[in-house]
Amino acid sequence: MAFHYFQYVVTMILVLSLKSIEAETILNTGISSSASLNRASFPHGFIFGTASSSYQYEGAAAVGGRTPSIWDTFAHNFPGKIDDRSNGDVAIDEYHRYKEDVMIMKDMNMDAYRFSISWSRILPKGRLSGGVNKEGINYYNNLINELLAKDIQPFATLFHWDLPQILEDEYGGFLSPNIVKDFKEYAEVCFKEFGDRVKNWITFNEPWSFSKHGYADGVGAPLRCSSWQNLNCSGGDSATEPYIVSHHQLLAHAAAFNIYKTKYQPSNRFSYPQN
Ligand SMILES: *[C@@H]1O[C@H](CO)[C@@H](O)[C@H](O)[C@H]1NC(C)=O
Repeated sequence: MAFHYFQYVVTMILVLSLKSIEAETILNTGISSSASLNRASFPHGFIFGTASSSYQYEGAAAVGGRTPSIWDTFAHNFPGKIDDRSNGDVAIDEYHRYKEDVMIMKDMNMDAYRFSISWSRILPKGRLSGGVNKEGINYYNNLINELLAKDIQPFATLFHWDLPQILEDEYGGFLSPNIVKDFKEYAEVCFKEFGDRVKNWITFNEPWSFSKHGYADGVGAPLRCSSWQNLNCSGGDSATEPYIVSHHQLLAHAAAFNIYKTKYQPSNRFSYPQN
């Protein structure tokens, strides 16, 4: 699906196969020589990988106990805001086809895969007290194990903009300081369930974009902005809300990182991704 502004981060754009890519260089002398670009052209330890976001890739939006996120709501209610009017109901169906996807990554000789975890797949009620969805845990366990079996390092993003809709409805999501505790508890579930194998964590994907597109520009969920902009927003204040949301993202990041550092990192065997 082609979201206009919901660009997934292609962290590393170079795809190098086992064979080196031959770059033809025509020298001034008219003699042609070939300069070879391969892994040795990059610093030792450089990681080649692919990256994705859960809502754009997983599909299975209503499968396995997942509940809607603010991006499900946005894509369904405002298809005109999506380039091709598509949504993430099925997407590329990574939820069912992860083995095939990992095989393709292996064929491309990738070292790493950065994926994001769907909060509402792990906690369908948004918060820990509402219960952990075992089917969701199983999915990510399977994905992580498949990656490791193929010697591909998992990099997990905790929040790639797909807030559980229920938290948006209940207290305004990232506009409320309540989000800090709920994000921290969600993060801790992930550290506890996956931290024995996932050694690379990303808390917030592009927090600036989330604040700007979701609360000022009228181009992303939860579609809030000032009414004078006439962007069909459901309320909002483009002059203040993006800052409040950014503030709460920072606090939530700090809370999650603190839990990780004090409770989980000491037991980790590695601090850095192996390659
Ligand atoms: C607002 O919604 C109307 C009706 O659905 C639509 O025609 C219009 O293009 C929308 N405007 C923007 C800026 O998205």
